[in-house]
Amino acid sequence: MNISIFGLGYVGAVSLACLARDGHRVIGVDIDPAKLDLIREGRTPVVEEGMVDLMTSVVASGRVSVTRDVAQALHASDISLICVGTPSAANGSQDQGALIRVAEQMGAAVRTKPGAHVFVFRSTVVPGTVEETLLPLLEKESGKKEGEGFHVCFQPEFLREGSSIRDYDKPPFTIVGSRGDYAVEQLRGLFGHLPCEFRTTSIRAAETVKYCCNNFHALKITFANETARLCEALGVDPFAVMDLVCQDTQLNISRAYLKPGFAFGGSCLPKDLRATMYLAKTHDVELPMLGSILSSNRAHIDLAISKVMGSGARRVGMLGLSFKPGTDDLRESPLVTVAEHLIGKGFNLLVYDPEVHLSSLLGANRRFIEQQLPHIGQLLRPEISEVIAHAEMVIVGMQDRRVVDGLRQHLRPDQRVLDLANLPDPGSLPGKYEGLCW
Ligand SMILES: NC(=O)c1ccc[n+]([C@@H]2O[C@H](COP(=O)([O-])OP(=O)(O)OC[C@H]3O[C@@H](n4cnc5c(N)ncnc54)[C@H](O)[C@@H]3O)[C@@H](O)[C@H]2O)c1
Repeated sequence: MNISIFGLGYVGAVSLACLARDGHRVIGVDIDPAKLDLIREGRTPVVEEGMVDLMTSVVASGRVSVTRDVAQALHASDISLICVGTPSAANGSQDQGALIRVAEQMGAAVRTKPGAHVFVFRSTVVPGTVEETLLPLLEKESGKKEGEGFHVCFQPEFLREGSSIRDYDKPPFTIVGSRGDYAVEQLRGLFGHLPCEFRTTSIRAAETVKYCCNNFHALKITFANETARLCEALGVDPFAVMDLVCQDTQLNISRAYLKPGFAFGGSCLPKDLRATMYLAKTHDVELPMLGSILSSNRAHIDLAISKVMGSGARRVGMLGLSFKPGTDDLRESPLVTVAEHLIGKGFNLLVYDPEVHLSSLLGANRRFIEQQLPHIGQLLRPEISEVIAHAEMVIVGMQDRRVVDGLRQHLRPDQRVLDLANLPDPGSLPGKYEGLCW
C-alpha cells in the first residue's frame, strides 16, 4: 500500500521502518527538518534496538521518502497513520496542539484528493478526541463527510520504547476503533498478518482501552514497588514474594477481579488492607496507592447510595445482602453499608438474600445479625416476590439464578432497577433498568 506517516518520533519512525520492510511504500512527514534529513540519509531519528540496520535497508530499498509537505504526502498515499506527540500540558491536560494542526492540514489536503482516504489516529488521545475534535476538523477543512470522501479510525499503539520493533511484530493485540468497515479492512490488510488477535470496537472504546492499559501497567509497577518497600522494612525478599504472587494464575495474574461490578467487602480484604496499612505506618513506610484503595471502594458504595437517593423512590427492595453470592457472611458487606445508610435516611427498605434467612442462620452469623444488625434482620424477607412487590426501586446486589428468575417473574414495568451485579440480559427485564456505572 501507499502509506503516509505523520510524526516521526518513536511510534512513527518505527512504523515507517517496519511497514517499508513489509513491502509498503511509505512517505514520512514531520515538522522537524533534522529528523527528515536523518531518514533521507538512511539513519534513524530514534535510538531503538534494530533501527540502525532496518532504516539503512528500507531507505536503500527506495520504498521510503520524507517531506514536510502534508498535501504532497496525503495525495501520494491511500492511508495516513497519525503519530504526532500528545504531551502533558502544564495543568495535566493533554496538549493536542500538534494533532489539531495536522488534522487541519490533512483536512485541507483531502479536499482536492479523489477517491477514499483513510485516517488512522495512532497518537494516544483522551477518549472522545477523534469524534469530537479531529473528525469535525477534517470535515470542516475538507468539505467532505466521513464515510464519503474519507474514513477515520483509531488504532492504539502498544509498542514499548527499547523493544519497539519486536513489539511492532508481536503486539498484545491489534485494536481498531471505527465507524465503518472500510477503514477496518484497510488495516486488516496492513496488520492482519501479525500473530495476535485483530479486534474491532468503537472509536471511543479504542481510545479508552489505550489509557486503561497504560494505567494498568502503572498500577502493576506501583503495586510491585509498594510491596517491595514494605518487604524491605519487614526484612522479606520482595523478589521471592512477587515471584510467588505471579505464580498464581488463577486469582492473581488472570481475568479474576477485573470485571466491573460492586465494591469489595467480606471478612478478608478490608481487614487485611487495614492491617497492611497499620504495619506500614509502624515501619514508617509510605504506601499511597494501597492506602487509597479503601477510600476508592467507599466511593463506589457512595455512588450506589447517591443513585438510590437521587431516584426519588422511597420504598426500596434490596436483593442480596452478603458480600458475595454463595455465602451468608455479612461481615463488611458493602450491601449492608448501603442498607444501613438507606435505613438511616428513612427509606422504607425490605431485603431478600437467598443465603441469609434469620431462621436458618446459625452460630456466629446469627449472633452477628442479632447483635450488630438487628434493624436489618427485621427487614429480611424469605420471599423475593414480597420484596419486589414492595419496591419502587429494586437494588440488585447479586447475580444469582433465584434473583434473576424472581425479577423476570415479579418485576413490573413501572419499577426501577439499580443493578450493582451486572445482570445478564438486562434488556429483557420489564422494569426501568440502570446499571451502577454501565
Ligand atoms: N513512545 C512510545 O513508546 C509510545 C507508545 C504508544 C503510544 N505512544 C503515543 O504515540 C504518540 C507519539 O509518541 P512518540 O513517543 O512517537 O512521540 P515523539 O515526541 O517521539 O514524536 C512525535 C513527533 O511528532 C512530530 N510532530 C509534531 N508536530 C507535528 C506536525 N504538526 N506535523 C508532523 N509532525 C509533527 C514531532 O516533531 C516528533 O518527531 C503519542 O501520542 C504517544 O502518547 C507512544
